[in-house]
Amino acid sequence: MAEVIIERTPQAASARAARHIAATIAARPDLVLGVATGSTPAHLYRELARIRDRDGLDVSRLTVFALDEYVGLPAGHPESYAEVVRREVTDALGLDPSRVHVPDGSAADPFAAADEYEQRMEAAGGVDVQILGIGGNGHIGFNEPGSSLRSRTRVKTLSRSTRTANARFFDEVDRVPAHCITQGVGTILDAGHLVLLAFGAGKADAVAAALEGPVTASVPGSALQLHPHVTALLDDPAAAALAHREYYDDAWSLKPADVL
Ligand code: PGA
Repeated sequence: MAEVIIERTPQAASARAARHIAATIAARPDLVLGVATGSTPAHLYRELARIRDRDGLDVSRLTVFALDEYVGLPAGHPESYAEVVRREVTDALGLDPSRVHVPDGSAADPFAAADEYEQRMEAAGGVDVQILGIGGNGHIGFNEPGSSLRSRTRVKTLSRSTRTANARFFDEVDRVPAHCITQGVGTILDAGHLVLLAFGAGKADAVAAALEGPVTASVPGSALQLHPHVTALLDDPAAAALAHREYYDDAWSLKPADVL
């Protein structure tokens, strides 16, 4: 069962995740960290940068792999995940850009770029700690409903609901790319520790389906139930549809604040 930690605010949940990840990097400076994009993890990255500045956390040997990237945006497009990761992670934390990896969505052959990305992750020894968000439709990474739970990094078509959700970053939905390169569900499940963040009422049904519903490709997030070490950090609205909330609260009220 996933460790489910419910905080009153996204800020509190993000700070808790940041404290844990900082402690993990301090104990293991050559950590391979998987990062998600989107609105959900933004505060976590800011908090991690704050901890780094305050405590002088050494991030010089940290390696980072992003979950996914749009296909077809020109290199340097501000909404490409390469740029989002550069702004929110690489620059914010002062990382060595050569240690930060994002699938090459502007490659002439995105299929080959997806294969190459998977090989690059393998060569790095895989991801130790993977930060995840979840889509309102239950996707993790850009693995849309129906994705094989054993899938590897590949080119996928984005669902209309995902493009609509991400239209806020573009002028209109038709400008949101229709394809992406995403780590597969199987790739994500290979990470050592999965840290899922979800905030807001719009995520409540997806969170409940992922953590407590049947394991099904219709809800790719439900594959988290197949992983031995998942921590879900939620705010109250995102936890609202969980059936076993009382149990989670009892289990976690006994743990120190910086342990996940
Ligand atoms: P969000 O996206 O963090 O912007 O809500 C999460 C996701 O779609 O995986």
